[in-house]
Amino acid sequence: MSLLIDRLAPRIVEEDGAFRTRMLGMAAGLDNVIALGRGDPDFHTPAHIVQAAKDALDANHHHYTGPTGIAPLREAIAMDLTARYGLDYAADEIVVTAGAQEGIMLTMLGLCSPGDEVLITSPRFTSYDTAVRLCGGTPVPVPTFEKDDFALDVAEIEKRITPATRMFVLVSPNNPTGAVTPPDAIRAIAELAIRHDLIIVADEIYAQMIYAPNEHLSIATLKGMRERTVTLNGFSKTYSMTGWRIGYLAAPRDLIAMLTEPRHTLSINTCTISQYAALAALTGPQEPVDAMLEAYAQRRAWLMPALDEAGFTYGHPGGAFYIYTNVSSTGLASPDFCLRLLKETGVMLFPGTMFGDESTDYIRISYLQPLPMIQEAMERISAFSAAARSSS
Ligand SMILES: Cc1ncc(COP(=O)(O)O)c(C=O)c1O
Repeated sequence: MSLLIDRLAPRIVEEDGAFRTRMLGMAAGLDNVIALGRGDPDFHTPAHIVQAAKDALDANHHHYTGPTGIAPLREAIAMDLTARYGLDYAADEIVVTAGAQEGIMLTMLGLCSPGDEVLITSPRFTSYDTAVRLCGGTPVPVPTFEKDDFALDVAEIEKRITPATRMFVLVSPNNPTGAVTPPDAIRAIAELAIRHDLIIVADEIYAQMIYAPNEHLSIATLKGMRERTVTLNGFSKTYSMTGWRIGYLAAPRDLIAMLTEPRHTLSINTCTISQYAALAALTGPQEPVDAMLEAYAQRRAWLMPALDEAGFTYGHPGGAFYIYTNVSSTGLASPDFCLRLLKETGVMLFPGTMFGDESTDYIRISYLQPLPMIQEAMERISAFSAAARSSS
């Protein structure tokens, strides 16, 4: 054991990142891989956004900015949140972060104290668990179930509230299930939050990817909720800008003032060039986004009946670009299913266990390849699963 490991701070605990690394390493050594694992859109960032970044470089925008971000971007974000979701944030109530991911950490640094319990829709994006634990809190999963298409049941939240419960993390649409929490449930969650004096962290990173008749309602628009909500969002998914590392959080200005110094400590500011690119994303043409959303809708519409035909059940996703699929009929536990599928057919998917799911019944399919590739992947998955079923 090295001296440094011996001195490791107790807040750093071993987490199961090993499986993801193993899958990605294995895929790197294979030919003809169809990657449906990561939540990284297959589209290039729209050209006018890339051009804005080039222009920013040419205009010498390669210095530090203020820690909360450049003024025109904060203004554009505030306007976009109002126009799209009816949210009421001013420019000085926005902190631009290195992805929503940094917004998650900053939120927990600001609001999660040792001993706090933080409820979170599950299966889930487990960076929340890590951020909560790093701040000395305890993540408390609120399960959702395939029979309900993984919709959040407000009674399941209430059951888990204790005197230590401080916060509920509402991710809608959710990753990995694509479940959208409908407006009535959002209203019930707001009522619950007020009754139990809970903070809400509303992660709305997939809020533009909603398939009719599903509807998105931003919880901070409801009466009494703005003051107890942090809204997180970003550019990675909507504008296909995962590598640019830019997102933001929105919250009342007294909290933003207190988060400014910790945000400065984390990374001083979000990459300046990415901030100019994000400004172009919000203020430029939205047709490239519409085209991407249309492609996701088509893929989803093709994939669901294809899964039915191949004998799988799943939660019907109302949003995002994931289908959380039950592979228990193959007789394989989800991690084995994914490892063998990758090794034997070159299709990469992630098991539900990577999303905090205690069951080994599920895999997440990210439909982030062109349709013909998804169709090819589905053929391989069907053949592999049929063979597994007949030998089990
Ligand atoms: C629910 C959720 N929140 C936040 C993030 C982080 O996104 P970003 O790329 O903006 O850091 C992800 C990424 O997959 C996510 O699924």
